[in-house]
Parts: sequence; structure tokens; C-alpha cells
Amino acid sequence: MDIISENFRNLLRAMRAPDTAVPADCVLFAVNIREQALKSRDLIPLKIQQMPQVEQAATLEKFQKTIDAFIVTTDKLIVTLKASDWESAKALLDSMKIERDEGHEQFQIEEAPAPATPAAS
Ligand code: HEM
Repeated sequence: MDIISENFRNLLRAMRAPDTAVPADCVLFAVNIREQALKSRDLIPLKIQQMPQVEQAATLEKFQKTIDAFIVTTDKLIVTLKASDWESAKALLDSMKIERDEGHEQFQIEEAPAPATPAAS
């Protein structure tokens, strides 16, 4: 996921000024995202590992379907980037942000809140 994150960030940055972006680099960022998403499909998220065993199989199936849908989006993204269709690419990146947020909401353990800052004395 860290590799997805890095490539996603690079692509978002490139799409802020697509006219100066190197198309081959953008395609590579998207290919890297797809490749890592496919790899993460084989992992069992910690949240699922910590669920009661009876819920694990069904939730894992849901997780894999979610990743599959995300991979379909990355396929579309690769097509649009190869065609230098920046407007469509930007729209797909927006959809991917939603897919990311919903995926994390469902399958990632919520981060513990930051510890309270001690009051100044
Ligand atoms: C642009 C897309 C995405 C980005 C940038 C992204 C980024 C990240 C990052 C930085 C982490 C924390 C580091 C790590 O655990 O490796 C993470 C964890 C995670 N992500 Fe994503 N993610 C994306 C899409 C998705 C999607 C579509 C899903 C769908 C299910 C997903 C599911 C998860 C899960 C389950 C974890 C926690 C892994 C665990 O606890 O074992 N992510 N993601």
C-alpha cells in the first residue's frame, strides 16, 4: 500500500500540470498502482485477521471484490493516460480517492486517536 500511495501521489502531482507531465512516467505510475493492488489482493488485512473466525471468509471475499473493482479502475486509468486524455484521467483519480477512502473505512483498522497533549503548566 505504501507503493500505491507513493505512485498515486506522483500521479496526482503530474495531473496538476498535465501539459508538462511526461506521459510515459504517468503510465508507469498507474501500472505500478495496478501491480501493487493485485499483490495486496493476496494479503489478509489485519482487521479481518482480528475478526471472529466465522466472519473472516465472507469479509475477505468482500475485500477481494473491492480490490478487483479498484483494479478495473486502474485499467481504465492506464488506457486514458496512454491516450493523453487528461480530463478522463483526472476524473478516474477522483473515483480512486473515493474507492481508497471507502476501502479503508471498511477494511483498515481505525487509527488510534492521538494522545492528548498535556496542558501547559
Ligand atoms: C489510491 C488508492 C490507495 C492508496 C493511496 C492507499 C494507501 C494506503 C496506505 C498508505 C496504507 C497504510 C500502509 C499499509 O498498510 O501498507 C493503506 C492500508 C490499507 N489499505 Fe489502502 N490505499 C489505497 C486503496 C485501497 C483500496 C481500494 C483498498 C480496498 C480494499 C485498500 C485497503 C487497505 C487496507 C485493508 C489497508 C490496511 C492493511 C492491513 O491492515 O493489513 N486500500 N492503504
